[in-house]
Amino acid sequence: MPKLWGGRFNSEGMDPDVLKFTSSIGVDKALAKYDCLATRIHAEMLAKCGYINEAEKSVLVKTLDELLKKIEDGSFTPEGEYEDIHSAIHSFVEEKLPEEAKKMHTGRSRNEQVVNSVRLYCKEMILIVRELIKLLQGSLLSLAEENQEVIVPGYTHLNRAQPVLFSHLLVAYIEMLERDSGRLADAFKRLDVSVMGSGAIAGSALKLDRSFTSGKLGFKETSRNSIDAVSDRDFMAEFLFALSMIAVHLSRISEDFILYSTSEFGLIDIGSEFCTGSSLMPQKKNPDVLELVRGKSALVLGNLSSLLVLLKGLPHSYNRDLQEDKKPLFEAAELIAGELSIMAALVKTISVNKEAAARALEDEFLYATDLAEHLVSKGVSFSDAHAIIGKIVKHCAGKNINISDLSLSELKGFSEELDEDVFSLLNAEVSLKGKKTQGSTNPDMVKKEIADWKKKLK
Ligand code: ARG
Repeated sequence: MPKLWGGRFNSEGMDPDVLKFTSSIGVDKALAKYDCLATRIHAEMLAKCGYINEAEKSVLVKTLDELLKKIEDGSFTPEGEYEDIHSAIHSFVEEKLPEEAKKMHTGRSRNEQVVNSVRLYCKEMILIVRELIKLLQGSLLSLAEENQEVIVPGYTHLNRAQPVLFSHLLVAYIEMLERDSGRLADAFKRLDVSVMGSGAIAGSALKLDRSFTSGKLGFKETSRNSIDAVSDRDFMAEFLFALSMIAVHLSRISEDFILYSTSEFGLIDIGSEFCTGSSLMPQKKNPDVLELVRGKSALVLGNLSSLLVLLKGLPHSYNRDLQEDKKPLFEAAELIAGELSIMAALVKTISVNKEAAARALEDEFLYATDLAEHLVSKGVSFSDAHAIIGKIVKHCAGKNINISDLSLSELKGFSEELDEDVFSLLNAEVSLKGKKTQGSTNPDMVKKEIADWKKKLK
């Protein structure tokens, strides 16, 4: 294959093993659409600046439009004979328009071309991922609405802590995902910059119209330093970090659902279309999809560290090492997009086992904090209240009885401040209604949160 840089080299061409080792086409073919589009705009800019004539421009544009169609319908399938997607696109044009193609690469370098294409890829992918986040938030919100009143034990240290609304937990997931979306929007703002016109490192001696290219490609800004332009990969690292945070979030949500669906917890049931069986144990219904969401998050986190390590020791500006930046990002973006959409579908199949939840709430130690706060409202210091209720819990745990098994006089033995009210406090609904702070699991507040999210996610 003709090279974009053949002149300085002798004619033997590249050793096939070297070509195989150095080629990035397997990965950067994902950039075909963006590179083709950017090349088309570059041709228009060259015509505008007088480096090619109108006739040359129009055949180049026509050929690149044809190529764009082929890329879109999947019939452009360059393989390992090319060094990268930029060379493959150049060769496509060269075959059809040998003379015009000679001018097509005027005033540009692959060093900037690749950055611009990746920026365009990121812009599109970020929008897609943000939409998918919204989709998952929508599924979580519907589940929250359907189960608005269901109370479950809330866990800290994976021990029963205090009763909470299950919908409160689901809205917590919506909050996490909203921050993820915000992080993506932030990354988007910073990467919405065209670098074309930076050349290989130093800019160009030709009078190119950088703003024209930038504007036509839909970028908000044009880069200000040509060295930074060809070597900066912060924008990829930021996007990849945002994806990593989503991976962590999806993994934690999966972990909750896995735990809650076990027979030990038995709080939820996951649609069997998202589970698989065991080849040996006939009774098994395993949450494999959730386990894989949890498991695959490892890849995304690994990819973030690959990219950061790749960048760490690199001298300025462009080095071929940078070719290895795309695989970790593309892999992570595709994986997260897939996970978000499968999670959105899975969440729709979750049903809540209300009886199991009610049974779990019979564990009256869940109300110990409410009892302590009750004593505080009667003037006991929190520290004393904590100690009093702690002793009651220790006493009951030792005898394997519930708090309500104690008589009032036994209770008074722990503190004179304890009264009949204690017994009515050993109740999940009372516990929740008693919550006063904004953001708490108080049903009225959670209801309002759900209503607010409904408006926001519309
Ligand atoms: N394929 C390369 C990359 O992805 C871009 C080409 C720049 N190559 C070069 N030898 N200057 O980074």
